[in-house]
Amino acid sequence: MKPAYDTLVIGAGAAGMMCAAFAGAKGGKVLVVEHCAAPGEKIRISGGGRCNFTNLHCGPANFISRNRHFAKSALAGYAPSDFVTLVEKHDIAWHEKTLGQLFCDRSAKQIIAMLLEEMAAKAVDLSLGISIEKVEKAADEFAVRLSDGTSISARNLVVACGGKSIPKMGATGFGYQLAEQFKMDVLETRPALVPFTFGEDVLRDTREMAGIACDARVSCAGVAFDEAVLITHRGISGPAILQASSYWREKMPVAIGLLPETDFFAELKARRRASGRRDIATVLSEFLPRRLAEYFLNFEKLTGNIADLPDAKLAKLVATMSNWQVTPTGTEGYRTAEVTLGGVDTDGLDARTMEAKSVPGLYFIGEVVDVTGWLGGFNFQWAWASGVAAGRAIAAKNFSK
Ligand code: FDA
Repeated sequence: MKPAYDTLVIGAGAAGMMCAAFAGAKGGKVLVVEHCAAPGEKIRISGGGRCNFTNLHCGPANFISRNRHFAKSALAGYAPSDFVTLVEKHDIAWHEKTLGQLFCDRSAKQIIAMLLEEMAAKAVDLSLGISIEKVEKAADEFAVRLSDGTSISARNLVVACGGKSIPKMGATGFGYQLAEQFKMDVLETRPALVPFTFGEDVLRDTREMAGIACDARVSCAGVAFDEAVLITHRGISGPAILQASSYWREKMPVAIGLLPETDFFAELKARRRASGRRDIATVLSEFLPRRLAEYFLNFEKLTGNIADLPDAKLAKLVATMSNWQVTPTGTEGYRTAEVTLGGVDTDGLDARTMEAKSVPGLYFIGEVVDVTGWLGGFNFQWAWASGVAAGRAIAAKNFSK
């Protein structure tokens, strides 16, 4: 029996839609099934509604995976410049915000519209609000039962269900179940790019600083990120903290060095020389938000005029601000995590095509795979690149069938 579809893609997220547009080349018949009512929900909310769709400096070093070489081939096959070409073909205006991060000028919805247009150009079918009830493999095709009671068959099955982060946006972990059904290894998953939470002992002092942001160097587990931190009602967040969270494990301390570019000791001594009668809190508030400055002064029990503080006391204050040690009690978990660490073990996948080595025709792409990017557009670049790798491989099969 001829399969109803050449390819069934599970999940109309970033990776799934990109893959479908490429798999539909050369006449392949493709269906994308999405259980949410709308496609690309995470794209819509990404980058504060502007979608940080790639990063100009994207390379394998920006990803965490048990096999740090796995992502190389796909990333080389579809570069950030390729995605920029696609964005420009669709007249979507964009800008570089900082550190190579590219955003839409107007709206993330333009990226979703672009992907839908690319799929429509290849006559890809899209079923929304439908979930998958059962998947079986018989001979050289997959038999899939859908929640609307229909069954379809497909020669290729692409699992693009994403990870577990933000369940209320459609995340299910279904991709991991499918991998396990086909006896593939799934590495332990955990929330990443996620704010830290503090215990009540720390919150007692930090809670009243909620909303304060400051540039910092955040170090943990041998890595360091220079970006902003943001104190929250539950703990601490901000880009530098989210980056560190991907490396953090329970009970690990996190070192926060405030304003790493500032030589505080030299600055404080200069002010002591120039205007010694000024209050130390007023002086420190020139560099840090007042409440944060007061927090460190309270910690070091320093008050009064800066002229009365000897070098040793200033040096101790500077040492504390440069190495503020906090031990989070945990993270905010999948409820707010941007991505999921771990997932389908790359050992079971072909790095050029994303096809399962043990199950011909079965592909895993995007976040469901054990490849997790840093904050800054890297995760979408992985979604596009892995989707394209699988889509091209499938299109090549269609061509030769
Ligand atoms: P994605 O989660 O996008 O798509 C999976 C799809 O599968 C979903 O539509 C889901 O509903 C569907 N699905 C799940 N189970 C299913 C089932 N059983 N049946 C049918 N469908 C099913 N990254 C970045 O690079 N730049 C950024 O600006 C941001 N910003 C950002 C903000 C926020 C708030 C979050 C939560 C995440 C980001 N990210 C990001 C991360 C980025 O969104 C993420 O890495 C990609 O969306 C992953 O793409 P996937 O296609 O793999 O999964």
